[in-house]
Amino acid sequence: MARSNVARRYDRIAWLYDFMVDRFFSNLRPGLLDGLEGEVLEIGVGTGNNFPFYPHDLHLTGIDISSKMLSRALLRAHELGRDIDLRLMDVEEMSFPDRSFDYVVSSLVFCSVEDPMQGLREVSRVLRENGELRMLEHVRSARPWLGSTMDFLNPVARLIGDNINRRTLLTLEEAGLEILSNESQGSEILKKIRARNVTTQP
Ligand SMILES: C[S@@+](CC[C@H](N)C(=O)[O-])C[C@H]1O[C@@H](n2cnc3c(N)ncnc32)[C@H](O)[C@@H]1O
Repeated sequence: MARSNVARRYDRIAWLYDFMVDRFFSNLRPGLLDGLEGEVLEIGVGTGNNFPFYPHDLHLTGIDISSKMLSRALLRAHELGRDIDLRLMDVEEMSFPDRSFDYVVSSLVFCSVEDPMQGLREVSRVLRENGELRMLEHVRSARPWLGSTMDFLNPVARLIGDNINRRTLLTLEEAGLEILSNESQGSEILKKIRARNVTTQP
């Protein structure tokens, strides 16, 4: 796997991530993972901030493109005494067989995935039919003036970090995922989304 700019950026900030980013989102994590069971994949696990909120009776696999973020996730899993299968992998090119998972989880990931359509197609491939994707993501606001401002500012945002104008709801549908619920937090930017895989096996 070629080391992308995204991997390099997250390798650089791994030591700072929890202080810099996570504290703003920690209150949104509970509830995202309620009712999960079976085979679960978390993509872009980062430093493992969702690990404490997973129910215990499931088998969790986690991937990330940044080895430094993943090392922190490994430490967190040990601290919590959880057995999590952690792998260095790009969501755009996953090595799991088709239909491997009952649930896929992503939080704050699709702002940085280089090709979100390819990433979501892969999610749809590895999810079982009717399997569910749970997301906590920031997206382009549906409010016209705010959405346009986000488009205008995106090149600057990309210079220092991630995209701020991703149309994730549209991309989900194009990738064969049916949106079951879409809960907005503040200015329709932060979203908790549940989507079901409606693609049928080839
Ligand atoms: C903002 S962090 C979010 C981390 C964690 N999900 C959380 O909620 O705290 C984004 C994470 O996605 C990972 N990531 C970005 N693009 C990825 C890709 N193509 N494949 C796998 N992981 C990716 C980054 O390395 C980083 O760890």
